[in-house]
Amino acid sequence: MKTCKLLIITLAGLGLLAGCGESPQTENAQTTQAPPATAQAPAQAVTPREDFQIPPEGFQTDANRGQELFITHCAQCHGNDAHGTEQGPPLIHRIYEPGHHSDLAFYIAIARGTHQHHWEFGDMAPVPEVDGEDAAHIIAWIRREQRTAGIH
Ligand code: HEC
Repeated sequence: MKTCKLLIITLAGLGLLAGCGESPQTENAQTTQAPPATAQAPAQAVTPREDFQIPPEGFQTDANRGQELFITHCAQCHGNDAHGTEQGPPLIHRIYEPGHHSDLAFYIAIARGTHQHHWEFGDMAPVPEVDGEDAAHIIAWIRREQRTAGIH
């Protein structure tokens, strides 16, 4: 529960930062549906899902399911084995160990995207197809792979 609150606060912070850091977005009127609400994704025109919720403590994660979800939603940039591609960094890497990038950082990257800051690949857009529970499975798999690689 505490983490949920923290996420909301952090997200609000990110929203504000994105709001003042970006130049105002010009109309990109390709959408046929109702215009997205207030929230602006960083850089890319991907609308973050509004119902993203970190699952409660004790949620049963399934790392194998996480691997499948990762391949579907993340591998395009991070590689099937999360060792990176030309479009995104390796996540099986010391800088993404829990002490440097907590699970919360993973949830935020998935829910809100992240600005380029560690590498030269550009920004990561939010991944709205992935909800909080799927994110928990994905994180469980990444942590397992990191442990297997002796990172933590
Ligand atoms: C279209 C490309 C792309 C996709 C798809 C993508 N990412 Fe990323 N991701 C990036 C890039 C680029 C960065 C590096 C940003 C930087 O410079 O630190 C990144 C960074 C991250 C980070 C580090 C965040 C931080 O706080 O530094 C995490 C965690 C992450 N991605 C997880 C995921 C997961 C999990 C998925 C799938 C649900 C995913 N990414 C899908 C491109 C992508």
